[in-house]
Amino acid sequence: MGTLIKNGIVVTAEGENIADVYVDGESISAIGTGLTAKNNDEVIDAAGKYILPGGVDQHVHFSFTYKGSKTRGFETSNAAAIGGTTTVIEFINQEKGKGLVETIDDYRKTDADGIAMVDYAFHSVMTDPTDEVIEGIPKLAEAGYPTMKLFMAYKGQFFHADDDAILKALQKGKEAGVTVMVHAENADMIDTLTKQLITEGKTAPYYHAVSRPPVVEAEATRRAIYLAELADAPLYVVHVTCKEALAEVKAAYTRGQKVFGETCAHYLVLDTSDLAKPGFEGAKYVCSPALRTEEHREALWEAVDRKWLNAISSDHCGFDYAQQKHMGYGEGNSFADIPNGAPSLQNRLNILWTYGVCPGKLSRSRLVDLYATTPAKINGLDKKGQLAIGFDADIVIFDPTYEGIISAETNSEGVDYSPFEGFEQKGRAETVLLRGQKIVEHAKYIGYKGQGRLVHGKPFGAAYQW
Ligand code: URP
Ligand code: ZN
Ligand code: ZN
Repeated sequence: MGTLIKNGIVVTAEGENIADVYVDGESISAIGTGLTAKNNDEVIDAAGKYILPGGVDQHVHFSFTYKGSKTRGFETSNAAAIGGTTTVIEFINQEKGKGLVETIDDYRKTDADGIAMVDYAFHSVMTDPTDEVIEGIPKLAEAGYPTMKLFMAYKGQFFHADDDAILKALQKGKEAGVTVMVHAENADMIDTLTKQLITEGKTAPYYHAVSRPPVVEAEATRRAIYLAELADAPLYVVHVTCKEALAEVKAAYTRGQKVFGETCAHYLVLDTSDLAKPGFEGAKYVCSPALRTEEHREALWEAVDRKWLNAISSDHCGFDYAQQKHMGYGEGNSFADIPNGAPSLQNRLNILWTYGVCPGKLSRSRLVDLYATTPAKINGLDKKGQLAIGFDADIVIFDPTYEGIISAETNSEGVDYSPFEGFEQKGRAETVLLRGQKIVEHAKYIGYKGQGRLVHGKPFGAAYQW
């Protein structure tokens, strides 16, 4: 039995057209006008709705641990589906003494396989850069995990990486087509400023931003770009948040270096005034890099529109406010004890549509490219992120007439707050197909635990090819 989606406005990264989409089994087998259903096919009337490829969120944390506090896991991945995301890519911190591939495989067997409700892939995070581990980087490509990240920030945490490790990762990674990503912030600058602020009694959540201003991100971004130049390897900079770091990425790219970057939905709509909210509210917005001011937000909107940045991720990090974010509250504690990151899995498309497409900051095609098509290409997911024949039938039927308000109470992220609480939402994913199976209907998740499948990426992703 197939599915015929009739008369929707099909949006791709190249443009949009009224067309029908035919799904045969798990794949898209035809796109055109006047397609007809076969016996027993389900026919969905999508007149007046947009047909988008299922989103690919290349930056999520279901397994992140900060100072002993762990995020919600894959059991909440139904939230991705409701938000129009059908593939998530999770970062797995290498366990000390374990191989990169082995760490991912062990995690996925216990924490993702049989649990995930959307398709999933993994990035390795190298934390223990012994000679043996560096030599083993090409095995990531063979295992279908062709991307790895290094954290330049977080001094003193086991996952912090020095320049030595980054350079070696870039050199070894390029032999096998592994794309190296960096969280670019200068760890020493942050550490020094943090200690000074705490000594001065400046411990409230707002000082998180003061402890890591734009220059901290710009310096590390530039350094990573130099390391990539030295290694003659591509580089992908995750969560670019400020004009200065953006200028570094753009300058490198313009002079012909293979340097690319993403930003995240929260950096486009939130700012330092959120961190300054009264009481301990600001803790909800503690993420790294820190939220910036209005001028940086506007620069980011321009950058995603003009292709200076090529993806928008969620950087979803499901820490509860009442328990986990409160680790930074009270006598002897500070912003530095607040687990970094915010829950945003369900609202990436909602935010981009409402605050990007509706006011004319992004075209629908550009949105599709940023939230699905390019992230799939960067990560070597050659059946994801596009409405095209032969691609996985991961499809969002988007109703642009819906109007609502975002709230943690009504979402499915399993976290006790949302950084977008009270935000107006225009439009929503009404129906979502995952490889041809309906997993969201009337904006409710109707799939099942374990329906998501591991997707292997191919090496030499788009960062090598552009
Ligand atoms: O604050 C953040 N972004 N937390 C998640 C880990 C990271 O740095 O990406
Ligand atoms: Zn990060
Ligand atoms: Zn992250």
